[in-house]
Amino acid sequence: MERVTSVVVVKLGGSVVSDKKVAFSYRERVVRALGKAMASSRLPIVVVHGGGSFGHTVAKEHGLSSAKSSPSTKGVSETREAMLRLDAKVCASLSAAGMHPYPFSPFTLLDREEGGRSFIGRLITAGATPVTFGDVVHDGKGFRILSGDTICVELADLLGAARCVMSVDVDGLLDERGEVIKVLGENSTKFSPLRKGSRKSDATGGISLKVREAMRMASSGTEVRLVSGLRPAEFSKALRGVEFHGTTIKVPHGVSSG
Ligand code: IPE
Repeated sequence: MERVTSVVVVKLGGSVVSDKKVAFSYRERVVRALGKAMASSRLPIVVVHGGGSFGHTVAKEHGLSSAKSSPSTKGVSETREAMLRLDAKVCASLSAAGMHPYPFSPFTLLDREEGGRSFIGRLITAGATPVTFGDVVHDGKGFRILSGDTICVELADLLGAARCVMSVDVDGLLDERGEVIKVLGENSTKFSPLRKGSRKSDATGGISLKVREAMRMASSGTEVRLVSGLRPAEFSKALRGVEFHGTTIKVPHGVSSG
């Protein structure tokens, strides 16, 4: 089986690839700059992007969320259609930046774990970058949004990722004074998410879900770095594992994320 050494899982947040306040807006220059940083890092990377002003706008219209399931087949079709449109844009920008994106739906991967690992391994070995996105799933009762943050957890676990870089539209996790929390670790598991950077109207859990999923990754040994995707130089440092401006989330092995 192909070996995937020190893969970095990168989340391109929906608030980075788009302006969530403007329906169907897309930040071409931002994604291209992040693509350049990823291409020049020469690291084996798997990209996950969020829904931003595409997925969330449509999901909201149809009352779809990650919290409860919905019977709306029309909602699921339209939300997936919006996500595929956004994914095409993201992949085009990454290609323009010198990457070789290989878009795939997260389900192809998550259902068959062993197959998924070698599928991703082969792509990376061949010089491609697997790209996936927040999606809509049927949970047995109805449709529910599957956040890109949750997909990062699955991927990090599947690939034994050393690092996950989550890009957001602020400089990291901010404290009450708006200062960046540099390290969130075992003593901070009771961290209560702050309103800054969160979007209450999201179909998924906003910053609360992000922190929870980051803690899950951290507690199984993947270091998580939250960085502004609007600052490509800091993103690049976070990616390469050097000192950066943002929040590092790490929990020693075996410590529960509470
Ligand atoms: C949401 O994914 C996906 C859909 C709305 C279909 P995320 O929850 O990862 O999206 P962002 O990053 O918050 O926009």
